[in-house]
Amino acid sequence: MLPGLLPELEVIRKDFPILERTLAGGLPLVYLDSANTSQKPQCVIDAMVDHLERHNANVARAMHQLGAESSEAFENARDVVARFIGAPSRDEVVFTKNASEALNLVANTLAWATGDLAIGEGDEVVITEMEHHSNIVPWQLLTERKGATLRWFGLTDDGELDLSDIDSLITERTKVVSLTWVSNMLGTINPVTEIARRAHEVGAIVVVDASQAAPQLPVDVTEVDADVLVFTGHKVVGPTGIGVLWGKRSLLEQLPPFLGGGEMIETVRMERSTYAGIPHRFEAGTPPIVEAVGLGAALEYLAAVGMDNIHRHEQAITAYALEGLATIPGLRVMGPLDATRRGGAVAFEMDGVHPHDIAQVLDSRGVAVRAGHHCAKPAHARFGVQSSTRMSSYLYTTPAEIDALVEGLEHTRAYFKVG
Ligand code: ALA
Repeated sequence: MLPGLLPELEVIRKDFPILERTLAGGLPLVYLDSANTSQKPQCVIDAMVDHLERHNANVARAMHQLGAESSEAFENARDVVARFIGAPSRDEVVFTKNASEALNLVANTLAWATGDLAIGEGDEVVITEMEHHSNIVPWQLLTERKGATLRWFGLTDDGELDLSDIDSLITERTKVVSLTWVSNMLGTINPVTEIARRAHEVGAIVVVDASQAAPQLPVDVTEVDADVLVFTGHKVVGPTGIGVLWGKRSLLEQLPPFLGGGEMIETVRMERSTYAGIPHRFEAGTPPIVEAVGLGAALEYLAAVGMDNIHRHEQAITAYALEGLATIPGLRVMGPLDATRRGGAVAFEMDGVHPHDIAQVLDSRGVAVRAGHHCAKPAHARFGVQSSTRMSSYLYTTPAEIDALVEGLEHTRAYFKVG
């Protein structure tokens, strides 16, 4: 057994019913697309079904027993999220639809903010070249609309952030620094705390996209020292349709509302309205209730396995995958080649075969990977490619599945007669 693997791996796999599935031709599923979306353990499915079967009601407005049960389950989920990320207070946890909505919430409310938080001409927002489109487009919209300037960290040839010009990039003009903790394409783990320190020296707000980090690394928002941290439910073995925005109370309390509607108000008159306190000010309309319940169960599941253990497992599997991929002639891994410097998403290209063709041949053997630009077009452009094939592992991934990938890639080369 590889050092670092979760010792109870076979037991963990049994928690995920979909992993028992076979595909066309009776082939076992080899699921290597967890950076895209993770699979769900039975306890998450059960928690959601139980809520729908026994407790379903709207939250915070239904004055009956089911309403109270549903509201309690929803707010309990908020407590679980707060504990999972080390948030000082549950009020700092806002439920959104996904990480993209969370990032748009921050960028839009900053665009509307007045006083110290107002952004205008001469101000700068700093991102990086390895961001997912969700952490690029909202800031482009903000800076275009406010006459501010968007700047970004470039990348080294190894797929790391080029921090050589950090002091000229993050300056007194910088209002926001928004970056991914772990790249969904290059896998790179970024030094978010170091960058946050520099950003705070100039009084900038630090936004961390933890969509790929929250599933893989222990997260403590106080340690990271971000002002905002976002992630999505479906990548942390939870359901789709729910994301998390954590923000420091002092910041959230200064931000204006995002969407207007029910339950985000204090009072409404025809002339104007006043707004609820945090987090409800940012949760207009009926929230994703059963999804929150599922997310709570998911994070409890991950916490029980242990995020340190999951991180070790991911590193062991990633190191094994990097070794295996290195044996394929003409295959180039993008991003750091040292597993300790990266997460479990490994994108690669292969001489003479289009990424989509690779994915299709692998799929015909039951191996599910992602091919395309992974919503990270600038990062691909930086390395002179349009797209790549990406394998991504998780706590349920076995070395045998990596062997199946490597064999599939050897077969792909033979199939396309390359080399
Ligand atoms: N951001 C997700 C991915 O990287 C969807 O696949």
